[in-house]
Amino acid sequence: MVAFVIVALLLSFASVATVLNKSTGTTVVAAGASSQPAAPGIPLGQSPADSFQARDPNAPVDPQPAGTIHKVTLTIVEKQIEIAPGVTQLMWTYNGEVPGPVLRGKVGDTFEVTLVNHGTIPHSIDFHASKVAPNVTMRQIEPNTSMVYTFTADHSGIFMYHCGTPPVLEHIAMGMYGAIIIDPPNLPPVDHEYVLLQSELYRSSDPSQPAALTKMLDEQWDAVVFNGYPMQYSDRPIKVGVNQKIRVWVLDDGPSENSSFHVIGTIFDTVYKEGAYLLQPDANHGGGQALDLQPAQGGFVEFTFAVPGKYPFVTHKFASASKGAVGTFAAS
Ligand code: CU
Ligand code: CU
Repeated sequence: MVAFVIVALLLSFASVATVLNKSTGTTVVAAGASSQPAAPGIPLGQSPADSFQARDPNAPVDPQPAGTIHKVTLTIVEKQIEIAPGVTQLMWTYNGEVPGPVLRGKVGDTFEVTLVNHGTIPHSIDFHASKVAPNVTMRQIEPNTSMVYTFTADHSGIFMYHCGTPPVLEHIAMGMYGAIIIDPPNLPPVDHEYVLLQSELYRSSDPSQPAALTKMLDEQWDAVVFNGYPMQYSDRPIKVGVNQKIRVWVLDDGPSENSSFHVIGTIFDTVYKEGAYLLQPDANHGGGQALDLQPAQGGFVEFTFAVPGKYPFVTHKFASASKGAVGTFAAS
């Protein structure tokens, strides 16, 4: 009898050890996701169809004075979209697109965001630009219900928004993220202003099903992308003029990979990160080469191109650039 108890105890320890050895594995992981066959990955270096239109990289314009009330509706839709050349799969979206729409306003503006859930499971939204009670304002809403999320933007920067429904990792990796830009006061005009959101893609073995949570937990992304699609601005370069002042807002939406935003062939004369200027033109002639961002950090850089040419932009973590986080400015 004693021997039986000891053996039983050893077995139970062994099973605990098995669970712990799955590192961060949770009970959610064991529920079906691991039974999927291995996903095929995302082939890189293939060109999209001629009809492909890159996501508009231009920053939205907010011509209204400070104090404006912005009324926005974000509708949650779970749908299959093209995430890479020849690859379509289910994504969870705000307004049917990944990333969700970029919102913009000024310090002192109020945002009244109507969140409508047309999905099949509970979802939510969390604006990093707001100071609200998470258990109240960021609450989950059931399918076919809606709520209004109201906040006043008291701080400037480029802020992430995302679904906060557990597992948050899965809801972000499935596409439920975006950005809101709150201009710092007296932001000077520039010739071109763009927004690039870096994130990862996780391919599913079944395009009608979510990607496996195990891949997300193990940080086994299939691609790293700007604005939701690998290498889209290599295939559709962003056209600018020589000596034009260019501002690029960059936000790392993750969920897990960092970013080191760099433009090959130029130097940043202005770097703004997490609500503060790190560099501005002055008599020291300081230059910046990369904007380093962890997930949920953002900022902008400003620069010009001295001569005509094709200027790639990358995350200088080249393992990620090699997996799709690369694009091109064409200066003429
Ligand atoms: Cu969600
Ligand atoms: Cu968050």
